This record gives sequence, structure tokens and C-alpha cells, in this order.
Amino acid sequence: MSREQQKQDAAAKAVEYIPDNSIVGLGSGSTMYWVMQKLGELVRQGMHVQGIPSSPATEQWAKEFHVPLVYFSSDMTKADVAIDGADEVDPDFHMTKGGGGSLLREKIIADAADKLIIAVDQSKIVQQLGSFPLPVEITPFGWQKTARDIQSLGCDPVLRRDRGDPFETDNGNYVIDCDFQLIERPDELHHQLIQLIGVVETGLFADMADIIIAGTDSGAETFEN
Ligand code: A5P
Repeated sequence: MSREQQKQDAAAKAVEYIPDNSIVGLGSGSTMYWVMQKLGELVRQGMHVQGIPSSPATEQWAKEFHVPLVYFSSDMTKADVAIDGADEVDPDFHMTKGGGGSLLREKIIADAADKLIIAVDQSKIVQQLGSFPLPVEITPFGWQKTARDIQSLGCDPVLRRDRGDPFETDNGNYVIDCDFQLIERPDELHHQLIQLIGVVETGLFADMADIIIAGTDSGAETFEN
């Protein structure tokens, strides 16, 4: 089964966790395309949801599939559930995210949600995080110094670029992709990184997922935390 089909199967299973009349956090990335398509079908069939998008791309898909949107406000600070993809997932429900650069907004939405459902294709399931370079969002000001500080934690930091220029997140920040090879203790590494001045957020989502749904050759498999 193709990776795209695995993502689609995982996405179809993930939307089953969305209750009617709920606020749904919406992550980013290619798996979310399939989530949005499926959610659009459910809305057409009469389901009532309001989605909080984590990126302009997801917002665009919501418009395409007629999924109503809502935004954070002083009266709206929580979601019933959030659905997102991931770049790597380990057996302890730790994840690396941010391959698309949306890690900060995704993490805010995940934190706001009562339940976080992650939909991935089988290739994202790993024994230990680290093969996928860890995205770390940092301020543009002094990025070279922040990168040097990150390097001292034992990785090879690379400033993400987009056609030659520094890649800018939706928050106007830069991303450093950090090759740590193997990440032994994700929670500890996250805390070391987040303490560095200039680091805005890390792509380590340590033990945040409640449910992981992996598309496999024999269909979608669900793992509960
Ligand atoms: C976006 O910044 C990421 O965190 C995505 O959730 C992650 O990269 C997964 O993307 P795909 O669904 O495209 O694999």
C-alpha cells in the first residue's frame, strides 16, 4: 500500500474521534489534507464542528472542504480534540514535529486540546527519535549565536532555507534543523533547548499524544497512551 494511502487510512480513522458539536484543533502537513477532506464530508453530512487551523495551508483546506473555522479569543481558549500528523513517533508516544515548520502553532493547539490524535503513515513509527533532524524555532535576531548554543548540546544545526533565503515560519521566526542522531531522552532535551535564549519552541512533543493512528499495509492501527 502506498504511503499516501496509509496517510489517508489513518486520517479516516482519526476523524472518528471527533465528537459532534466540538471544537477541533487542526494540525498541518500532508496527512492533514486527508483529515480535512474527510472532515469536510462529515460536515456535509450534518456534523457540527469548528476547527482551529495551525497554518494558512490548513486554513485554505478548511475553506476548500467547507469546514467552519474559529480562532483563539479570550472566550475561546480550549479545543475538545486536536488532530495532527508527525515526522517521527516512538513507542512512548514521544514525537518529532515541525517538518513543515508549523511546530509552534501546532504545539499551542495540542496544548489547548483535551485529546491529541496523531495520524501517520507507517514510515513515521520509529524505535527511537532522531533520524529526522529535530526542528527548533528560533528568533531571527542573533540566530547565529542561538545556533551555536544549540550545537553545544551535541547536534549539527542547519538553518532551514527556502530558495536560498532563511525559511520563515508563520510567526516570522527561523527554523534550525538539528541532527542529534539519536535522541535518548526527548523530555530532557526539550527542556535543555527551551532554556536557551532565542529558542522559541522545539519540535519535540514529549508524551503529548493520546492516540496514535498508523496507516499500515493491512489498514490503520490504533495505539492508545
Ligand atoms: C508540520 O510542521 C509538521 O509538524 C507536520 O505535522 C509533520 O511534518 C507531518 O507532516 P506530513 O503529514 O506531511 O508527513
